[in-house]
Amino acid sequence: MPARQRLPPALSEPDARVLAEGDLEVHGRILPASNATYLAEAVAPGDGDGDEVRVRCVYKPIAGERPLWDFPDGTLAARERAAYLLSEALGWGVVPLTLLRDGPAGPGMVQLWREPDAELDAVDLCPAEAVPPGYLHVLDAMDDDGRHVALVHEDSEPLRHMAVFDVLVNNADRKGGHVLAMSDGHRYGVDHGVCFHVDNKLRTVLWGWARERLDPGDRAAVTVLASRLADDEALRSTLCELLTGAEVAALGGRCDALVGRGRMPVPSGSWPAIPWPAF
Ligand SMILES: Nc1ncnc2c1ncn2[C@@H]1O[C@H](COP(=O)(O)OP(=O)(O)O)[C@@H](O)[C@H]1O
Ligand SMILES: [Mg+2]
Repeated sequence: MPARQRLPPALSEPDARVLAEGDLEVHGRILPASNATYLAEAVAPGDGDGDEVRVRCVYKPIAGERPLWDFPDGTLAARERAAYLLSEALGWGVVPLTLLRDGPAGPGMVQLWREPDAELDAVDLCPAEAVPPGYLHVLDAMDDDGRHVALVHEDSEPLRHMAVFDVLVNNADRKGGHVLAMSDGHRYGVDHGVCFHVDNKLRTVLWGWARERLDPGDRAAVTVLASRLADDEALRSTLCELLTGAEVAALGGRCDALVGRGRMPVPSGSWPAIPWPAF
């Protein structure tokens, strides 16, 4: 496991400004996706005459959110923004910059596009008896052709941060396709609409650290987050605008429980632990 903490490249201020204030041009729908999810560009004038700055992003209008039985309608965009703020509070850069703003299909969330390295698979299937070095085994399964395969993911610090983050936000949908493997080693997580439920909904492919002792650095980061959730009024009130008070309280409870247990959770048994499809 790399000793050095890998953080994403610092966000350029102009990118953040253009994402927040630029005109949103929609280029097409991303498929397969469960909601109306668009590839878009935020466009704003640049410094020079006639220049323009284009920032690629995902745009998910609230009006395009698919109704779900267990989450209130029209709340997924705010959950995505809250997930970004949580990732920033942890300092791990798990989630690309995510904002709430208006767009051509109405208000929604926009998120910076982060192009993954197509050659890398942070989450993968491999022959059951041949888990590659540097990967952790999650489960054995049978593929469509009847071959025994294993679901595996890499044993890396950025992915472990994502697994801890998912426990805290109570992510109900960490599929393989929601992990973006960047060529510099960073790993981004996307699609955090179904997070922050008050009931345990953790559904993830990142079970490779189940029952393991928390990494001391991760434990320290979660401890700091827990005290900020208790004492930092600015953070609390921002989260309370995005989530219900009960959801913010449950988030604090999950932070405290994880630190108290000192170990990563195991599947509860009362809820499907792996998203379907897994990728
Ligand atoms: N910020 C992003 N950067 C790069 N690719 C992304 C980003 N967000 C989403 N994607 C890609 O688009 C797909 C669909 O987006 P997702 O957020 O999962 O939408 P939905 O909520 O409709 O399932 C993802 O599986 C991922 O491949
Ligand atoms: Mg998705």
